[in-house]
Amino acid sequence: MQAGTGKGSARMRKNFSPHCFLFLMLISLGSHKLDAAGGAACGSYLSEDGLTKGECKEAYVNAKDKASLQSGAQIYMNYCLGCHSLKYARYKKVSEDLEIPFDLFQQNLIFGDQKMGDLIQVGMDPKEAKEWFGNAPPDLTLEAGLRGADWIYTYLTSFYVDESRPLGVNNKVYENVGMPHVLIDMQGIARSVCRDMPLIAENGGIKQDPLTGEQLSFQKCGFLEVDEGTGSMSNEDFDQAMLDLTNFLAYMTDPLKTERETIGTYTLLYLFIFTMLSYLLYREFKKDLH
Ligand code: HEC
Repeated sequence: MQAGTGKGSARMRKNFSPHCFLFLMLISLGSHKLDAAGGAACGSYLSEDGLTKGECKEAYVNAKDKASLQSGAQIYMNYCLGCHSLKYARYKKVSEDLEIPFDLFQQNLIFGDQKMGDLIQVGMDPKEAKEWFGNAPPDLTLEAGLRGADWIYTYLTSFYVDESRPLGVNNKVYENVGMPHVLIDMQGIARSVCRDMPLIAENGGIKQDPLTGEQLSFQKCGFLEVDEGTGSMSNEDFDQAMLDLTNFLAYMTDPLKTERETIGTYTLLYLFIFTMLSYLLYREFKKDLH
């Protein structure tokens, strides 16, 4: 009996190194997902099915999708740069990373007397901006690291009409926000509306009136709906545009992501091959011991 146990632990020791390594590899692969998981809660944003409140929509950011990053950069330079700087980045680096030719970038995405080598600044005085909007528009270079991509995407799609606010607009994610709905001509007029939701019985079915057999419902408020035909884009196209914009802001926070991941993959591959070789060597040495 004792001999058996001894044999077992010897086998375990023998297998330890490759197993341990595989385990580490799985952990490091899994950790790719972690960066998407963090981030702030989404205020009173209500999911489309009305089941969860305060949970952000998922933004599928992809640092390798250059077309999406280019489209995001275009929206940013046209609609956001008037107020929000990206003061830790330079135009030149963005045009290289996003593979936008210099002259095209210069003609279409740089305004005023800015040069390719400049940091991406705004001309607005922060003090004046604070007077206009109640809060100064923050720099957004590191915004995706602060709030998370999911938060930004949900925020950008959550402006709605609220006459009680100074600018006539509010946001589900960021209550009483000072930012105007700058993309209203793209999205159209969004409103916070109520819907009839079916009343669910304990057994999971829809509750019915015992006399008439009619299905029972209750009113739930806080859903976002866009008045049809008021924007230049369909809901799907607007969502995609906001995903591209979010992708661009995620790239801003972590411009070396693709490079780092490629190096990481090669390093893991190298370690894997190296472990296999050292394991074979170990077996050779062990033969000589007997
Ligand atoms: C007219 C000026 C203006 C424009 C244009 C503008 N914003 Fe803003 N934005 C603001 C102000 C002001 C705030 C601060 C609001 C507050 O704190 O109440 C803000 C806040 C934000 C925040 C939240 C910052 C935080 O507190 O974490 C994000 C994200 C943001 N803006 C993204 C954008 C994007 C993306 C665009 C382009 C589509 C854009 N903004 C265009 C004025 C502007």
